[in-house]
Amino acid sequence: MDANFLMNIVKSNNLDENIKLLSASIDDKIVFSTSFGIEDQVIFHAIFSQKIKNIETFTLDTGRLFPETYALWDKTLLQYNASIKPYYPNTEQIEEYVQNNGINSFYTSVELRKECCHIRKVVPLKRALTGAKIWITGLRAEQSDNRNGLNVIEWDEHFQVFKYNPLLHWTTVDVKEYIKKNSVPYNILHDQNFVSIGCAPCTRAIKEGENFRDGRWWWEDQSKKECGLHKQ
Ligand code: ADX
Ligand code: SF4
Repeated sequence: MDANFLMNIVKSNNLDENIKLLSASIDDKIVFSTSFGIEDQVIFHAIFSQKIKNIETFTLDTGRLFPETYALWDKTLLQYNASIKPYYPNTEQIEEYVQNNGINSFYTSVELRKECCHIRKVVPLKRALTGAKIWITGLRAEQSDNRNGLNVIEWDEHFQVFKYNPLLHWTTVDVKEYIKKNSVPYNILHDQNFVSIGCAPCTRAIKEGENFRDGRWWWEDQSKKECGLHKQ
């Protein structure tokens, strides 16, 4: 398997068709990561409305998500009669981190913030990707300059997996149209100017003129704003 082979499978402009073809063409393990953001809800719909069984959907529950995100998780499961595998941080690691540094220490230094992201997201992600050959994500080029440089199929050297970013070239309008057309449930925070939603203490709504990711780790220097899930 290489990137060209995969690209050939997902070459149409139709998301549902691409997801179906991918699932039918690949015997290896395919996983889809959802943070219940609006992009992920689109992909979720494409998978579950077509009753695709061989793509495993997982979420990384950091323990610090918004109540609105937990509510959407619940609603989505019910609406689609779906199964989502949750991954949790290692108990000893998080206990030690919180005891040593405090419950909200991510505001005090970039190092402590990255350590929190590492424990709550990256370590569980490694477990979630174990044995997977393809990892489907909701990354979009419009979200940041770095993401603008991505490809629809990317080899992720760090996690040793092919990433498939089916919505890479979708605009915000495309995403919203799909959600509306298919009556897909979405996080109500999106209606309050929360565009990119992560953990509650580290996410705020964006203001007029701000960029897509300005509400994430807003107290930090732009260049440091990544959590380790994605290079970009
Ligand atoms: S992040 O790197 O800043 O956290 P972002 O929130 O933009 O990423 O989400 C991009 C993609 O990463 C999502 O579409 C989803 O595939 C994956 N992702 C992010 N956070 C999570 C999470 N908590 N659980 C599972 N997947 C996630
Ligand atoms: Fe911790 Fe904030 Fe990272 Fe969530 S986003 S894992 S709360 S530092």
